Amino acid sequence: MQQIVQGIGHLPEIISKAVRQKLLLVTDASFPFLSIKDTVESLAVEKVRFSDFTSNPVYEDICKGIRLCRDEGCDAMLAVGGGSAIDVAKCIKMAMLGLENSSGANLFQDCQTSDRQTKTLTLVALPTTAGTGSESTHNAVMYYKGAKQTVTNDAILPDYAVLEPAVLTTLPLYQKKCTLLDALCQGIESWWSVNSTDESKAYTRQAVEAIVHYWRPYIVNNDADAAGQIMWAANYAGRAINISATTAAHAMSYKLTSLYGLPHGHAVAVCLPEIWDYMLTPAAVCIDPRGKAYLLSIFDDIAHALGCADAHEAVLWFRSLMNMLDMPSPVSRQREEELTLLSCSVNPVRLKNNPVAIDEAQARTLYEAIVHS
Ligand SMILES: NC(=O)c1ccc[n+]([C@@H]2O[C@H](COP(=O)([O-])OP(=O)(O)OC[C@H]3O[C@@H](n4cnc5c(N)ncnc54)[C@H](O)[C@@H]3O)[C@@H](O)[C@H]2O)c1
Repeated sequence: MQQIVQGIGHLPEIISKAVRQKLLLVTDASFPFLSIKDTVESLAVEKVRFSDFTSNPVYEDICKGIRLCRDEGCDAMLAVGGGSAIDVAKCIKMAMLGLENSSGANLFQDCQTSDRQTKTLTLVALPTTAGTGSESTHNAVMYYKGAKQTVTNDAILPDYAVLEPAVLTTLPLYQKKCTLLDALCQGIESWWSVNSTDESKAYTRQAVEAIVHYWRPYIVNNDADAAGQIMWAANYAGRAINISATTAAHAMSYKLTSLYGLPHGHAVAVCLPEIWDYMLTPAAVCIDPRGKAYLLSIFDDIAHALGCADAHEAVLWFRSLMNMLDMPSPVSRQREEELTLLSCSVNPVRLKNNPVAIDEAQARTLYEAIVHS
C-alpha cells in the first residue's frame, strides 16, 4: 500500500527508514535548479546519483542505471524529477527484483545477473512536474528500438509519493502546460475508459474539477496555492489511470512524440478533442459493455465537470483551452508517408480501453484532422 504525503519535510524520515546500505538518487537534468536540491543532497545516508538519461527514456540508458544500482549495492531509490525520472527508477526496480512485465516478458534480461538480485528495494518518488501521476501508478514508459514500451507490475508502484508543490516554481511555462494537459487528458480518458470503476471515477472527478478551477492561476499567475492543487489533481489522475488505464488519445499520441518531437502531454492533448468529437457522431460504435446510454451519461458528467452544458460544448471548450495555452497541432512535411506511419503505429492494447471502436482506417481519418498540412 502506497503512502502519499505532502511536504519535503517528510523526506528525511522516509529515507532514513528506507536505506540500510546506499540510496540510488535518480534525477533528471533539472535537479541542480530545484528549490529542494539542498534538502535532498543533505539527506544523511550514503548515496550515489544517476542522471544519464533523457526525457522519454530509452532502454539503453535504463540499463546503465540498473548496472549502477547493482554495482553500488543500493537498497533504496529516490526518484526526483518528472515522469521520465520516475519511470527510469521504476524500470531499475523491475530489473533489480527480477520481475516480469505483465505480458510475462523479462524486459531487462540483458542487464541482469540473477545472483546479484535484491529481494526488496524501497522506491520513493518525488515528482517535479504536475503531471504524469507516475508517482502513483504501477506502469513505466520507455522506448525500446524506437517504439514505446509500457512496463507494468504492481511491485513498481512507488512505496512513497512525496508531493512538494514548491518544485513547480522552476518548471518552464511550456512544460507546465504540457504536464497540466497530460493530467487533464488522463482524467478525462480514465473517466470514459471501459475499465473505469466507482473508485477511479471519484479520482478523475477530483482531478478534472481541480484542473478546471485552478489551471488559470497556476499557468497565468504562478500562484502557489494553485500549484499545490494542480499537483494533487495530477496525483488523483495518476491514481485513476492506475485503475482504468488510458485510452485512444494516449494510444494515438506516442508516435506523434517520436515523429514530431512533441512532449507527451502536448501530443496527447492534440489527439483528445478530435477523438471525442468522433465519439459523439452517429457512426461511433460503443464497445463499453455498460452500453451506449451509460457512455453518453459519462460524456455528460465529464462535460459538466468542465463547466459545459453537454459533450459537444466540452469539445469546443477543450479546443479553446488549447488555443488559450497556445498549443498548436503538429504540421506534416511528407503528409502521405507520415499519415501511413501514424495510423499503423497505434497501440492496440490501449485502443481496447477506448469506449468507442477505432480501427486503422478510422485512426488515419483522425490523424488527418490532428496533423495539419
Ligand atoms: N508511468 C506513468 O504512469 C506515466 C504516465 C504519464 C506519462 N508518463 C511518461 O512520463 C514522461 C513524461 O514526463 P513529464 O511530462 O513529467 O516530463 P519529463 O520528466 O520528461 O520532464 C520534461 C522536462 O522538464 C524538466 N523538468 C522537470 N521538472 C522540472 C522542474 N521542476 N523545474 C525545471 N525543469 C523541470 C526535465 O528536466 C525535462 O527536461 C513520458 O515518458 C511519458 O510517457 C508515464
